[in-house]
Amino acid sequence: MSKRVTENAVDFPASGEPSRRVVAVYEQPVVIRWTHWLIALATFVLIGSGLQIFLAFPSFGPKIPQLNLVHFPQGFHPLAAGSWIHQLSLGGWLAGGEMWHFTFMWIFAGSGLVYLVYHAISGRYKATLFVPKDVPGVWPMVKHYFFLRRRPPLAQQYNPLQKLAYTVAVALGIIALLSGLVLFNPVQFSWLAAIMGGFHYARIWHFSVMCALVLFIVGHVIMVAIHGWSNFMSMLTGWKKSPEYVAAGIEGKQIERG
Ligand code: HEM
Repeated sequence: MSKRVTENAVDFPASGEPSRRVVAVYEQPVVIRWTHWLIALATFVLIGSGLQIFLAFPSFGPKIPQLNLVHFPQGFHPLAAGSWIHQLSLGGWLAGGEMWHFTFMWIFAGSGLVYLVYHAISGRYKATLFVPKDVPGVWPMVKHYFFLRRRPPLAQQYNPLQKLAYTVAVALGIIALLSGLVLFNPVQFSWLAAIMGGFHYARIWHFSVMCALVLFIVGHVIMVAIHGWSNFMSMLTGWKKSPEYVAAGIEGKQIERG
């Protein structure tokens, strides 16, 4: 006999002994799934169109007199005309890139807001937010992934390394939006520009955060691939098959009940 585990409760069948096999856990509520995929789509569009906008003036610092705040060795500018990076840009030309960027900026910001408000209201932040007590759990996970050591037992939905990655990703998203606001409206947000070191430095912040997000996405997608199909499907259907942490918890409950 099987039973289903929901996010909040373990449902035992009305009659008979509960089975020890966990079928699935409803891990990803519909709000999280929709906002996750909208944010993922928006992130890809924002990166491609942002690149298009940047390539219109591929230099950090004032234009007149031109002063580059970041120096690449002669002949090694990664964004020089003709480099493969131009193939990744979206929009065809500056105004095209801006149209994509300013449209998907709303999708990114709106979905991000819904994602954060849902976390705050539902208490889901307890599963995703990296807190000081997660610190000791990070190194064992790093050893597991990078030095092929045994995986520590999973006690919660996300392991400490995942929580760290998700919390950093959310922080990066927020900095991307704030620095974008400065670039979009430097007069109204002059106080924010000042915090970031001025308009030109806000541009460097915006670009650096994009690079960090690209690194997050590469690591995230590799991890999703490593964790298998059921894990991936949980972000589509909401349900994850037999996660280890719930199986362990249920065994404990059954012993208590028995
Ligand atoms: C095609 C690319 C992507 C795929 C296939 C993917 C897949 C997934 C999957 C399967 C999970 C659940 C992980 C688990 O249960 O262990 C997840 C969670 C998450 N992903 Fe992605 N993702 C992608 C892109 C992104 C992007 C671009 C971002 C952010 C910019 C992102 C941010 C997150 C966050 C914050 C979570 C945790 C969600 C929560 O529980 O609140 N993902 N992703």
